[in-house]
Amino acid sequence: MPDTTPAKRYGVIGHPIEHSRSPQIHTQFASQFNLALSYERILAPLDGFSATVEAFFKDGSGLNVTLPFKEQAYDLVGPRLSRRARMAGAVNTLWLEEGQLHGCNTDGVGLCSDLLRVGHNPEGKRILLIGAGGASRGVVFPLLEAGCEMLHIINRTSAKAYDIREQVVALDPDASRRLSAGGLDDHCGDWDIVINATSASLNQNLPELPDARYRSNSLAYDMFYASEPTAFMRAAEQAGATHSKDGLGMLVGQAAASFQIWHGVEADVEPVLAKLRQDIG
Ligand code: ATR
Repeated sequence: MPDTTPAKRYGVIGHPIEHSRSPQIHTQFASQFNLALSYERILAPLDGFSATVEAFFKDGSGLNVTLPFKEQAYDLVGPRLSRRARMAGAVNTLWLEEGQLHGCNTDGVGLCSDLLRVGHNPEGKRILLIGAGGASRGVVFPLLEAGCEMLHIINRTSAKAYDIREQVVALDPDASRRLSAGGLDDHCGDWDIVINATSASLNQNLPELPDARYRSNSLAYDMFYASEPTAFMRAAEQAGATHSKDGLGMLVGQAAASFQIWHGVEADVEPVLAKLRQDIG
């Protein structure tokens, strides 16, 4: 007898939203498990995020949240936030459990799984994180959880880097030994992994960079992605980075982590990433 159960509804909510790759990623994951689901792009008005979420969950099962709503999603979930969401101060994955809205943030685990995938396990590494906006805050705790030896956050506006450190240490005092912060003009040492979390790559611009030294077998990782190596990746290789990667794998990794929360299964990121790489040219 044919299965007549309606496909569960999922989606990604943001403003703008038309460029989101999440529908493509989640439907490919679903086909790996023969799961019937729908996954749509949802444009919420800038002043109508919570009403749009509420309307979606009348029959929807899960939502990814993207810019500019991740902090609003955090506020909406209230006490039912995962530790990672609390540490990030932002939510990118929403779902209902017994009628209650829950939230997690999978951006940081997406980054860590991609670092592992490309052969640069963060464990035991000295990591420099450039930028102190939402993108940066979302990955600090997972990098510490992954066992990095040292994580140094630097930002053009140094006060914002100190703020992130303070917020994370307030929630996890143990983090203070391995987490430091500063400005771009710090004499900041040598690094195994340098991550660009500034918004400069969004416009294909090179961010202002610190005078960092790269260790042997080091990696420069841009959290943004493009069809060509980004300006940051090129500059980092010239400055001595052994390898450079963009953030397409992080995008697929964070989606896989959301997929696991919703469906309880671990999707294979490689074929989805390969297809996406082909599509972006
Ligand atoms: P997001 O949520 O994507 O992180 P954001 O909160 O606007 O975006 O933060 C952007 C980050 O990129 C900030 O750390 C910003 O530095 P400032 O706090 O000094 O503004 C950083 N950034 C943006 N353009 C930059 C540039 N050209 N050089 C260096 N840092 C830059």
